[in-house]
Amino acid sequence: MDGKTKVCGIMANPVEHSMSPVLQNLYAERTGINLAYVPFKVEEERLEEAVKGAYALNVQGMNVTVPHKQAVMQYLKELDETAADIGAVNTLVRIDGGYEGYNTDVPGLLRAVKEEGIELNQKKCILIGAGGAAKAAAYMMAKEGASVIYLLNRSVDKAQALAQWVNRLAGRETVKPMALSDYSSIPGDGYFAIQSTSVGMHPNTDAAPIEDPAFYEKLEAAYDCIYTPSETKFMKHVKAAGGRAFNGLNMLLYQGVIAYELWNPEVKVDDAAIAEARMRILEHLNGGK
Ligand code: ATR
Repeated sequence: MDGKTKVCGIMANPVEHSMSPVLQNLYAERTGINLAYVPFKVEEERLEEAVKGAYALNVQGMNVTVPHKQAVMQYLKELDETAADIGAVNTLVRIDGGYEGYNTDVPGLLRAVKEEGIELNQKKCILIGAGGAAKAAAYMMAKEGASVIYLLNRSVDKAQALAQWVNRLAGRETVKPMALSDYSSIPGDGYFAIQSTSVGMHPNTDAAPIEDPAFYEKLEAAYDCIYTPSETKFMKHVKAAGGRAFNGLNMLLYQGVIAYELWNPEVKVDDAAIAEARMRILEHLNGGK
């Protein structure tokens, strides 16, 4: 570090367990940028001061996570379209007079899905879950032109609320909300599915949101937002029925890579650096068990 070091960081509370400093400093090293990325523990009631203070201190970019992703929006100069639509910001980029807020979860998921060769335009989709992760997934599927999205959730009222939100934004009735237990009424096969509930996550690995093998016959490929374990029971069901299945690790990685590239538009994080970052995450996860 020297007098020209660019400073970025992450605002969260707690922040101690974040992997972002390890990953972002690795990208800085591998892309040859003189940048230091540091953790900032920010109390909820001091968020405004933190954003203004960061700007005054010439901080170039920030990640923002729990519990500040919504609250931070009111302190920003501008919002990109996805962040404004979703109502959550995870990345701040310094612009004239303040920060612009971005949501890199949506493009991170899109990059992960596209990389598996999945084309969402005119694709028949199924989304399981209606929480925060489902919101990003439903938005992405609708924006990319999915022909239909069957939205399955345990509590049907949440599925209805999310469907209404997406359908209003998209200007068409693409999302069809359903109770999770009604999965057998989804017609035909050839679907791409995203699993966004916490069911099957470590340590409760012997569970999937749907256990009936007949459901999985409908799926051509599926993405599980979970990455611990690396192969969930949901993914095993998908593969047993002949479909392709992927875990959520790339979404996690890519939302960080996209943030890094927003702060440093002159460089790209290459595949070797991403592979190294993936190793660091896996080491961290295995060390934590
Ligand atoms: P996230 O932000 O990670 O998406 P969340 O907002 O808490 O987390 O959402 C959790 C999702 O997992 C919800 O869709 C939830 O279903 P409900 O809306 O019915 O609560 C789903 N979920 C959690 N535990 C579940 C279980 N045992 N069976 C089925 N769905 C479950």
